[in-house]
Amino acid sequence: MEIESLVRKNILQLKPYTSARGDHMTGILLDANENSFGSVVEDEWNVGLNRYPDPFHRKLREELSSYLNVSKEYLFFGVGSDEIIDLVVRIFCEPKIDNAITLEPTYGMYKVVCDVNDVSTIPIQLDKSYQPDLEKIYSSITKNTKVIFICSPNNPTGNLIDSKLIFELAKNFNGIVLVDEAYIEFADKPSLINSIQDYPNLIVTRTFSKAWGLAGVRCGYCVASSPVVNLLYKIKMPYNLNKLTSQVILNALKNNLQKDKFVEAIKCERQFITDELNSNSKIKKVFPSDSNYVLFECENPIEVYHKLIEKGIVIRDRSNQVKNCLRVSIGTREQNLKFLNELRNVL
Ligand SMILES: Cc1ncc(COP(=O)(O)O)c(C=O)c1O
Repeated sequence: MEIESLVRKNILQLKPYTSARGDHMTGILLDANENSFGSVVEDEWNVGLNRYPDPFHRKLREELSSYLNVSKEYLFFGVGSDEIIDLVVRIFCEPKIDNAITLEPTYGMYKVVCDVNDVSTIPIQLDKSYQPDLEKIYSSITKNTKVIFICSPNNPTGNLIDSKLIFELAKNFNGIVLVDEAYIEFADKPSLINSIQDYPNLIVTRTFSKAWGLAGVRCGYCVASSPVVNLLYKIKMPYNLNKLTSQVILNALKNNLQKDKFVEAIKCERQFITDELNSNSKIKKVFPSDSNYVLFECENPIEVYHKLIEKGIVIRDRSNQVKNCLRVSIGTREQNLKFLNELRNVL
């Protein structure tokens, strides 16, 4: 598939901004109107706070490439994976003309990003097992459908999407299939990042916000074919990732075993919460989860949600997406016990 044939004309023709730090990172740097005297706060990280960061994320790409065992040509970093979702829509979808498909119920940002960019969305319901119905999708695709968003594991239902279905879709769809793997570390099946070579229209987004415990740092990345990565670098803001974020991510990659420990602990607590919810007769359904949250169904979910807030416990009301359902993120054992206890009282 020719990726270029899917790209908006203005993006293909765009002459990207050439940033000073893209050309030179060392020497007597008098090219970017920075403050050569230093910065007003002490640079305790020793990153050169007075200088703009590397627009090409060279060190980060190198380190992540060796951690994931994926060529650095296939890696792009964004300010959270949300930034990447937005860039993808802007590269491929012509406002007011093109459209994108979302598989509902799912993560709300796909639609919001499309709305902001004046790109319409076609919502298609997942089937009863919350898997994509390929026939329904094929019959909804129009000549202007450019992107299909697939969230796996899916937020808020928590289940993985069958990779066979994703590959089939990527093979048959003449457009971009974006697979959002924000929660993949919590699943027992592998990521799709190693399938990029087989499917040049596949983009897999991932994040440091969940398993790595770095939501406050705002860093996500994607694995995609090099034409897609080049387009992302072409249109992003020159200095999207700041130096402190990059430094924290480099430290995180060195400390990846801690991430694995978190994942194990969260999966163990997920089992605990799932069992406890299942043993509560007032809970109608507990969704099996491949992620770090559990969706459950009860009567009067909005009332339950507000009563829990009164007790200082904040979960997420998802009843507008999945009937009568609330979503709880997996906490520490202490937090989970408090939640389960208050939930029992409220119900
Ligand atoms: C499915 C999904 N994708 C992406 C994100 C956002 O990730 P990031 O923090 O990397 O922007 C979230 C956040 O909740 C999410 O649920």
